[in-house]
Amino acid sequence: MQQLSTDKFPSLAYRKAGQGPVLMLVHGFPENGGLWDKVIPLLEKDFTVIAPDLPGTGESSLVENMTIEDMAHSLDAILRHEGIEQAVVAGHSMGGYTALAFAELYPQKLVGLSLVHSAAGADDEEKKETRRKSIELIKKEGGKEAFVKQMIPNLFAASFKEQQPEVLQEQIERANSLPAESMIAFYKAMINRPERISILKKISCPVQWIIGKEDSVVPPAKAAEQSKESERTFVTVYENSAHMSMLEMPVRLAGDLKEFAQYCYHHHLK
Ligand code: MLT
Repeated sequence: MQQLSTDKFPSLAYRKAGQGPVLMLVHGFPENGGLWDKVIPLLEKDFTVIAPDLPGTGESSLVENMTIEDMAHSLDAILRHEGIEQAVVAGHSMGGYTALAFAELYPQKLVGLSLVHSAAGADDEEKKETRRKSIELIKKEGGKEAFVKQMIPNLFAASFKEQQPEVLQEQIERANSLPAESMIAFYKAMINRPERISILKKISCPVQWIIGKEDSVVPPAKAAEQSKESERTFVTVYENSAHMSMLEMPVRLAGDLKEFAQYCYHHHLK
């Protein structure tokens, strides 16, 4: 693990592997950079892979009143620390919301944007209310564990859950390792995030959409619709995946990320 410290981010940890052009992998909620453990070994031959622990997860400290923009700034802090000028950034779900904020704040640093089971809209009122209720549950004694137990199985395709219950269990353990305080901070950050469909329209680099046909968090139809907003779009739909292709079908996902990132670097004009 690599570690850095700035005024804004007292402790920021990230995995760094391989060499070559940079591919940054940003995890979602309620995870940490370990989410990418199965795909990093498949990508490190071709790329310098960087997988942060977002603030408040793994070995990275939480920042006060954290926003999605703060999370995007944390990606930039890592790139600056590494002396990296440009990267392809792939974000899973909340990591995709973060990558979109990065696209807005640092467009000149982005060579390609991959949205892995993610989308660019804001929460509607119903979603915000569901999150507020979850925050109340997480605050209660034993509430975090109850929330995780109910949430995690919904992220996976039915057949996968049956065939690989141990992966589900690992994911429950990773989620439970997050402090309740961090979970609440992430939910508040997501409630408050603005829509970034307008950013998709402006974005000049290629945008990849990885869509799970069985995803119940990011409806496939919504992602497919939004994918039409940007100019250079690559859409891949996984028939047998839900929200977690980095665990459900890591070889396929790594292959698609590799192909996309190579395309981006090949066609990129500095
Ligand atoms: C995630 O997987 O990052 C979250 O479930 C996204 C969300 O709750 O919107």
